[in-house]
Amino acid sequence: MTLSSHSRPQPKPGILDISAYVPGKSGAKGAKVHKLSSNESPIGASARAIEAYKAAAGTLELYPDGSASALRAAIANRYGLLADNIVCGAGSDELLQLLAHAYLGPGDEAIYSQYGFLVYPIAIQSNGATPVVAPETDYLADVDTILARVTDRTRMVFLANPNNPTGRYLPFSEVKRLHAGLPAHVLLVLDAAYAEYVRRNDYEAGLELVATSGNVVMTRTFSKIHGLAALRLGWAYCPAHVADVLNRVRGPFNISAPAIAAGAAAMADQEFVERAIAHNDAWLPWVTREIAALGLEVTPSVCNFVLVHFPADEARNAHAADAYLQEHGFVVRRMDAYGLPGALRITIGTEEANHGLVACLKAFLS
Ligand SMILES: Cc1ncc(COP(=O)(O)O)c(C=O)c1O
Repeated sequence: MTLSSHSRPQPKPGILDISAYVPGKSGAKGAKVHKLSSNESPIGASARAIEAYKAAAGTLELYPDGSASALRAAIANRYGLLADNIVCGAGSDELLQLLAHAYLGPGDEAIYSQYGFLVYPIAIQSNGATPVVAPETDYLADVDTILARVTDRTRMVFLANPNNPTGRYLPFSEVKRLHAGLPAHVLLVLDAAYAEYVRRNDYEAGLELVATSGNVVMTRTFSKIHGLAALRLGWAYCPAHVADVLNRVRGPFNISAPAIAAGAAAMADQEFVERAIAHNDAWLPWVTREIAALGLEVTPSVCNFVLVHFPADEARNAHAADAYLQEHGFVVRRMDAYGLPGALRITIGTEEANHGLVACLKAFLS
């Protein structure tokens, strides 16, 4: 029996307006597949984190520590923070959702920038609030256009810095200017998922701003530089009153015991992090240069991926390139959902993947 839409349970208003997040593809043809579609670590994870994960298998019958104390202590120790102001989540995605859940409702507005991470509108709309998009300039968030969109209904501003999928960043002076222009009751969420990759003197993830104001939260992830995407682990540094709110609404055991153990070990393994940074430092400029040398426009990135723009003609456009790359074992990310159908986002891979990708693009264009 099929039920008409009137005779079945209905979600809250706004839920059916959400465009579901489409993750990067995994599969492709070819003997060896290089997955360059989700900005994952090309050098795996810390051996110490893997060891800790395996060791946790011995006590799977026990609930985890609901306050993830060991993990929060490891993060606090690494960055010199107050452990009480750290809240961990099942990926930073969960923290973004929890923040929206706790601070947004029908009638509220939340602002994000034009090419901002697509989890923001999902989190905003899931809670019945209205997403407000601030146009970007040259694929970069613009403080003035964001501030111009603040109304008396604005409750939150989401800023990915640096941003996925553009790879660009705002200098800290601009982030401070954004914060200074927001009313004190508006929560500024600084999503710093790619902070570790940034090698610029004028960049800061936002720890100082969190510590010195009452309306800024910074989110971080273990999915990128730490190579632990499969575990689903992220953290937020918050003012005490925001940490208190998140701890009320989160699931009591939202982080699994293996994730707590592996995350704490990963945080302590700076040598691995340095290796991951060195790999990106070597290959991000190489990939950028080589792709640009093929005549394609590459948005300058400070992350572990590049946004590549393709010509408009049917034979050489982004869709044709995506199909060709996939046919040859390179899985990259289409950008249609971001309103960038002419671009592909490509993660920095292993040496073999980077060389292969450039050679494949060259063959495609010739
Ligand atoms: C800007 C940004 N924020 C947050 C996330 C979510 O990361 P996770 O939920 O794996 O911690 C991602 C993942 O791609 C991202 O690109």
